[in-house]
Amino acid sequence: MTSPDDKSFSWRQIGPFSELSKKKCRLMYSSDGRDADVCLFYVCGEFFAMDARCAHSGGPLCDGDIEEADVLQVFCPWHDYDFNLRTGKSSTGLEQHVYEVKLENGTVYVKHASDLSLQPFTLVKEN
Ligand code: FES
Repeated sequence: MTSPDDKSFSWRQIGPFSELSKKKCRLMYSSDGRDADVCLFYVCGEFFAMDARCAHSGGPLCDGDIEEADVLQVFCPWHDYDFNLRTGKSSTGLEQHVYEVKLENGTVYVKHASDLSLQPFTLVKEN
């Protein structure tokens, strides 16, 4: 018997730094479906990865405003909850999952349980 929790996290190749550093936020599609999509942020010279659907009611965090102050955070566009890009924590007590990001030989990787892609997955997974 398997469940999503049985999957081991591994480094997923996302793309070249030269391209990914041009935008503050991009949506990365998960092979596990919409609820597992991830935002890749590039803010103040650092990458951060966080679940793309807000822990409150599923708002699209990739469309949120990003604050570049002492604390780097994104504000959900639906109800303005704040989420720390580094920890995923919100002053509301909610928390987003965050994921490790690494840069190796000019390529960006995110550690995640599913495949991640900048393009939507077109194949529907069979159970
Ligand atoms: S859905 Fe994000 S704050 Fe409500």
